[in-house]
Amino acid sequence: MIARSQPLNLWSAPSDPLVLERKLKRNLKQESEQDYLPAIHQQVQVQFNYAVHFTRGLFQTQNPLLAEAIAPPSNHPPQSILAVVDAGFLEHRKGFLDQITQYAEFYSSNITLKAAPIIVPGGEAAKNDPKHLEKLHQEINGVGLCRHSYIVAIGGGAVLDLVGYAAATAHRGIRLLRVPTTVLAQNDSGVGVKNGINAFDKKNFLGTFAPPYAVFNDLDFLKTLDDRDWRSGMAEAIKVALIKDANFFDWIAAHAQTLAQRDMNQMQHLIYRCAQLHLEHIAQSGDPFEMGSSRPLDFGHWAAHRLEYLTYYRLRHGEAVAMGMALDSTYSYLMGLLPEAQWQQIISTLKTLGFALFVPEMMVRDRVEHSLQPNPSLFKGLAEFREHLGGELTLMLLQGIGQGLEVHEVDFEKYEKAIALLQPEVMV
Ligand SMILES: NC(=O)c1ccc[n+]([C@@H]2O[C@H](COP(=O)([O-])OP(=O)(O)OC[C@H]3O[C@@H](n4cnc5c(N)ncnc54)[C@H](O)[C@@H]3O)[C@@H](O)[C@H]2O)c1
Ligand SMILES: [Zn+2]
Repeated sequence: MIARSQPLNLWSAPSDPLVLERKLKRNLKQESEQDYLPAIHQQVQVQFNYAVHFTRGLFQTQNPLLAEAIAPPSNHPPQSILAVVDAGFLEHRKGFLDQITQYAEFYSSNITLKAAPIIVPGGEAAKNDPKHLEKLHQEINGVGLCRHSYIVAIGGGAVLDLVGYAAATAHRGIRLLRVPTTVLAQNDSGVGVKNGINAFDKKNFLGTFAPPYAVFNDLDFLKTLDDRDWRSGMAEAIKVALIKDANFFDWIAAHAQTLAQRDMNQMQHLIYRCAQLHLEHIAQSGDPFEMGSSRPLDFGHWAAHRLEYLTYYRLRHGEAVAMGMALDSTYSYLMGLLPEAQWQQIISTLKTLGFALFVPEMMVRDRVEHSLQPNPSLFKGLAEFREHLGGELTLMLLQGIGQGLEVHEVDFEKYEKAIALLQPEVMV
């Protein structure tokens, strides 16, 4: 009888590495002689097509856009749909749930709502607590959605990320219709191919690349946004303009004041051009699912994601991106890449739009000298960024407005100087 405390020694590995290597070589040789089979090289090509629609009154019965976009073939039953709605959006739209139900009834030959719309918390709370994901999976299972069914996600970028992840992982992928209701979601997060939730204190740690079936941008939804969310989404437009399109940046700079005052026609132009640039990048970069180490669209994001975490998500994503861009633009200037006049134009445009470029979390008080120093914890964002992307660190900087430049090394002293320069009392 073997005493329980004694481990069973079924295979004793030789402790000497040379003996082990000889043994492994002998085994490999035997295998290759007896069992050698050539590798089978597999190549799969998959094409994705989806439309990003622009409309008004999406769920008014006189607007057939959504119902027609998913119309079943003739003589087929209506398409099964489950709707998930952002609670923060809903607060401003009394009667919205009834409107969805009426819409589905009106187009009952095209669509069937499988259950009453599910409501999830708006904002980062949706992505921070895994119970929301579990609830969605339970509902999808409960109503029996299949891969040919549709989940329509209505809300801000956070809710779309959560619902997109739930849809992508149930049955390995249910068709997703996105209805973005914030500026950021309409011009960036809602039109792309990513989803995800936060875990282990890291943004988007869990997630997939999964293109939507279709996207429906309704400008009317933006009317109820508070000023922070109205402004926040414009950060992503500035980001894509700064790295890709100088004319677009000039247009934003020229209209910054009226955009800040909520001119809807100008916002429409901003969203359309920004969405177009994002979509072009995804289609033409040759790396839609970010297999490489480079992620140009994440200009300003290494610091942004870390600042979101350091501020316990007090900052909106776009607000953090504006700070991240201010930091990386300042660093680009200090590194001699970006001309001073262009750096100042970027900073003043961000300020005219109403963005703050500094939060106290960017600094910490030195324990010995009690002076304020750049927060070393912010730089953990660089390591997390590299870990998230894989491969070598690849950062997008600017060598001019509209001209991004990728670098692989960081001068921490210059970054500290850049942080110090962004303090409101230093910055004019
Ligand atoms: N998947 C991607 O490619 C991608 C890209 C960029 C950002 N993101 C993610 O998007 C999220 C940020 O999205 P966001 O900026 O849309 O903010 P958000 O989703 O956090 O929403 C902000 C607030 O606005 C509320 N809201 C939504 N629509 C409203 C409306 N029409 N009127 C009034 N209130 C409304 C929400 O309830 C929430 O309280 C972050 O989690 C970010 O990581 C994802
Ligand atoms: Zn972003």
